[in-house]
Amino acid sequence: MGPDMSGIKSANSIPARLAIGQHRCQKPAGILTHLFEGFRLADTANSHRFTSQGPLTGSLRIPGDKSISHRSVMFGALADGETRVTGLLEGEDVMATADAMRAMGAKIEKHGAEWRIQGVGAAGLTQPDHALDMGNSGTSTRLLLGLVAGHPITATFIGDASLSKRPMGRVIDPLSQTGAQFEASEGGTLPLTMHGATSAKAIEYRLPIASAQVKSAVLLAGLNTAGTTTVIEPTPTRDHTERMLRGFGADLHVEESGGERIIRLNGPAQLKPQNVVVPGDPSSAAFFIVAALLCEGSDLVVENVGLNPTRGGLITVLRQMGGHIEELNTREVGGEPVADLRVKHSKLIGIDVDPAIVPSMVDEFPVLFVAASLAKGTTRTSGLEELRVKESDRLSAMASALALCGADIEENADGLVIHGRDGDPLPGTTDGCVTTHLDHRIAMAMAVAGLASHKGVEIDDTSPIATSFPNFMELLEGAST
Ligand code: S3P
Repeated sequence: MGPDMSGIKSANSIPARLAIGQHRCQKPAGILTHLFEGFRLADTANSHRFTSQGPLTGSLRIPGDKSISHRSVMFGALADGETRVTGLLEGEDVMATADAMRAMGAKIEKHGAEWRIQGVGAAGLTQPDHALDMGNSGTSTRLLLGLVAGHPITATFIGDASLSKRPMGRVIDPLSQTGAQFEASEGGTLPLTMHGATSAKAIEYRLPIASAQVKSAVLLAGLNTAGTTTVIEPTPTRDHTERMLRGFGADLHVEESGGERIIRLNGPAQLKPQNVVVPGDPSSAAFFIVAALLCEGSDLVVENVGLNPTRGGLITVLRQMGGHIEELNTREVGGEPVADLRVKHSKLIGIDVDPAIVPSMVDEFPVLFVAASLAKGTTRTSGLEELRVKESDRLSAMASALALCGADIEENADGLVIHGRDGDPLPGTTDGCVTTHLDHRIAMAMAVAGLASHKGVEIDDTSPIATSFPNFMELLEGAST
């Protein structure tokens, strides 16, 4: 049987997202039907109870990688000619990027399974005539701030309640050095208006935090800038920008020196249109991998999972904890290593997670915390300060959510310590429900907790799932039957 989908069938309206901190467990009268670009997403009520459904079996194909999808739309829009993209993630975040690129001159359309992007050239972005609505997406915002910085145009960026709390100072600082100017809201947040530089300056920037978004913003500002833009990365982060810019023909070189990565981009760049095939998102696969490990009797194949080493931390950690994850049919898709993963229910053991692995699984900690809650012994995590400035404060949100479900959990400034239940499912929620704080990954991680619980887990708002994994509910139902 699939998860409780009662009340979903009469879906007929799109409810407003809940504001941060707002707590509601009652199903509203209006239920969500979500449509865009002719693609029907999972029908979902705002609140939902996820309950144990038995083993997860069979195989499923997860949607396209979010990071690669954003970049394929942006780089396609900057190329000279038509880029074609298949496997694009059609989640709200990527659609926000596509809308912004359209507002700055690119033509982006879907034809069958393929997206066609008519690029404007790396110097060709035009002034948008309305504010760019970034929705919930930090990646859209920070990368596009970088892109606009190299163009003599003015653009206003707005977003939802979650995004409007997130720090933009981390990109405003380096981009100001290129000559761009900013009028941000208090604390360096959205709404924010930026004036791109008339003649941007190529800068050298050493990343003060391990962030692929900041790295990418600086590199993207260098695309329409004469000279060499240099980013020094003391801790490696996901390298999709470097791989893809090179694939689009940019003059970009990476050198490793003394444990640091030095990335040099010679501008101005000319990008050649490409045919891009987007591999499946390991960050989305993560929820099904952990669900299969936790639910007794599971034997599930998760197909088409991107295994770029800068993204593979969760699989390494789950294997260290005793998780059975086999790689089948390893291959290359769109220049990225990919495999199908066969995951079997496993007895997990708590470990101390090495903080050096954090950048390669920065988005996967919410679901790792769920896995740790059922492991034998204690799991200690540290070096996770960045989790406090994601779509929500993920340390505090997950500590509260798991505690509500009966987990034994301690919250530190930079991580969680979780005393596992040696395979016994979580009690689940009885009074009250989990608050997701407009954070898709909190919603999906706690959905997995519901599958691995005695009484089920009630979640206040599943609508944020559509930002990154529109068919999550459908796939979950399919794998549970
Ligand atoms: C992303 C980088 C990461 C990650 C985000 C996507 C990207 O953010 O959390 O979901 O596509 O570059 P940070 O750069 O803030 O770590």
